[in-house]
Amino acid sequence: MSFDWNRKLLKYHLASALRPDANTALLQGLAKTALDTRAGRANDRYNVPVFLQYAVGVNFALNLDRLDTVLELGSGYSSLLWGTLAPEGTRIFSVDGKPVDAYDIREPLRAVAHRVRFVTGPTLTREQYRAFYDGQTRAEFLGLPVAALREHLGPFVRPAQRSPYAAALDLPADSGALAPAVDARLFEGGGLRCLSRLLPQPWEADARFCAPQGPTALDGVLAEAETFDAVFYDCGEFSTLPEWTLTSGRIRPGGLAVFHDVYFPKSVKTFLLCALLAASPDWDVLYHDTTTPQGLLVARRR
Ligand SMILES: C[S@@+](CC[C@H](N)C(=O)[O-])C[C@H]1O[C@@H](n2cnc3c(N)ncnc32)[C@H](O)[C@@H]1O
Repeated sequence: MSFDWNRKLLKYHLASALRPDANTALLQGLAKTALDTRAGRANDRYNVPVFLQYAVGVNFALNLDRLDTVLELGSGYSSLLWGTLAPEGTRIFSVDGKPVDAYDIREPLRAVAHRVRFVTGPTLTREQYRAFYDGQTRAEFLGLPVAALREHLGPFVRPAQRSPYAAALDLPADSGALAPAVDARLFEGGGLRCLSRLLPQPWEADARFCAPQGPTALDGVLAEAETFDAVFYDCGEFSTLPEWTLTSGRIRPGGLAVFHDVYFPKSVKTFLLCALLAASPDWDVLYHDTTTPQGLLVARRR
């Protein structure tokens, strides 16, 4: 796959890596283009590397031979990038339980609303959420033997500061001790423990984002769009795994899955999916960011 950068973003990306004050320059640039209108935005300059990682994911999609339909799960800054950079004809759906008007960046989001279809509502019903997290320890996870996933988990386990998941599981902060401790918590008898059993409190808390019954906002999108050229997974901590089961089959061969928050125990959102795709014969991992605490992974369906 050939890869071209949007030149402006490349400039910011390099500047951000090479010059300590460049993030401020990027924010000033965003303010000038009216993309960033928050009060006190200078205080948010530490989030810029995350924004640039989103930009990397979007850039991969822009390099596809065709980009007809994009699905984003979890709206926000990333929606601004899709809305500003995707070609005119691309259909972009962005699903989130939070309405656009509730965002501090509502003005720039409204400004791209002619390009991005913001679909407000839950991605899952409570029944779908609970059915996925059935409490069982699994020998197979989403079609692959757990042994294969376990072998590929290493790159997605990293020490995290102030992680509620690390605290709940009593994980050590030391990187040498972390990997064996994570392995001991996640696996029993060669099987993968269910996250709902490992982390019952945050799992129960996330259930509140789900709909009492369907159809959900995501059902609406899936009824309208047959296949996706790219899906960006950046929604709920526990909702992302069941969202994957509903959407991944719709990613066309050659299409992309882009994951944000790929490290455990900072997040539980996508680390299992990233290990799964690294192990899977059906996917090629094209990119894995190790420079931000959240990380990003881009994989292409074979
Ligand atoms: C990490 S944020 C998204 C960040 C966004 N991509 C950005 O660039 O700023 C996750 C979002 O997922 C939404 N969310 C979490 N669980 C959800 C669910 N089950 N259904 C719909 N939205 C959900 C939250 O409202 C939140 O806005």
